Amino acid sequence: MRVWISGGGGFVGSNIVRAAVEAGHDVLTTAHTFTPPEITPYAVSSLDVTNPESVAMSIEDFGADVVIHCAIMNDWDRMYGDRHAAWDAYVGATRATAYAAVDVDSAYVLVSTDWVFDGTQAGADEDTPPNPINLYGALKLASEMVALEAGGAVARVSGVNGMHLARPQTPRSQDRGFGYFVASIVDSLRSGLPFTVWESDDINMIATPSLALECGEIMMAIGETKSTGVFHCCGADPITRRELALLTCDVFELDHDLLRFGPPDPASMLAAPVPYDTSLSTPRTDRVLGRQATPTRHLIDRFKNQYFAEISRPKSSGVST
Ligand SMILES: NC(=O)c1ccc[n+]([C@@H]2O[C@H](COP(=O)([O-])OP(=O)(O)OC[C@H]3O[C@@H](n4cnc5c(N)ncnc54)[C@H](OP(=O)(O)O)[C@@H]3O)[C@@H](O)[C@H]2O)c1
Repeated sequence: MRVWISGGGGFVGSNIVRAAVEAGHDVLTTAHTFTPPEITPYAVSSLDVTNPESVAMSIEDFGADVVIHCAIMNDWDRMYGDRHAAWDAYVGATRATAYAAVDVDSAYVLVSTDWVFDGTQAGADEDTPPNPINLYGALKLASEMVALEAGGAVARVSGVNGMHLARPQTPRSQDRGFGYFVASIVDSLRSGLPFTVWESDDINMIATPSLALECGEIMMAIGETKSTGVFHCCGADPITRRELALLTCDVFELDHDLLRFGPPDPASMLAAPVPYDTSLSTPRTDRVLGRQATPTRHLIDRFKNQYFAEISRPKSSGVST
């Protein structure tokens, strides 16, 4: 397949690129600020996804069989500070990529999030009506509607763990969600430093973790089968931050006495609500794609293998496989 991916220079996007390359597909990804290594096993096109003409030309010229839209404006201050720019960057870019895919008869996948739910909808499945409680969730939900009405698929990723394969030096730190949670614990504890697992009613305390590379593999399956509708790309088990931290210590054989439990760093807090329990279930995803969600322990085991493979990789090799 010819797989066009926006945002391959980002955390999740770099893993989708890796999954597509490893599956033997021809891949083109976009770069906005990202400077890729000189030699890559995929093509890179400099592109702003908020420019519909450039998007349409890139997708048509590449002859995409699958379009995966992963790029986002990942800047909450800018998102809240310039609502028009945020709408263009989320909903406008989704419209541009989705209808460019329609024009070339390509499958379409929008990468979305468990934060379309309000934090009280534990175990939400693919048919549960979303109820976002912050602007990010609202913009992602509006984007989902555009993708679905264009006949595409929505792939919600949640509690995303894994390595940033395009910018491996990106600092990994705990945030109000579950992204990078496992890697940031491993980095601290391997250095002999204590790690405080944040616990608070004001942050995302329960989620169903995923591994970014597996999310990419699920998206390849969606593209290969030209499936449409909503998919949940995550593991099988809801888990609290504390449980995930202890599991991480167990799998990586790290000293759990270095774990502390306490309130979040006030500097990390947003002037916007964050959903508390965003756990998901996957009945439709499993049925349509003929798969079974992976137990969290297996995802962390797989992440451990990936972690040690990536940290021993030469620094200049970027996303290359
Ligand atoms: N990380 C998580 O924990 C998480 C959880 C749930 C859902 N998601 C979803 O996963 C997706 C990716 O998130 P991420 O965390 O991987 O973000 P990220 O690391 O910040 O990457 C964002 C990407 O978007 C690209 N981008 C931004 N503005 C652009 C523009 N105008 N034109 C072209 N490209 C542009 C960036 O390009 P450059 O690299 O070229 O600058 C970058 O590659 C999003 O759809 C997000 O909603 C992520």
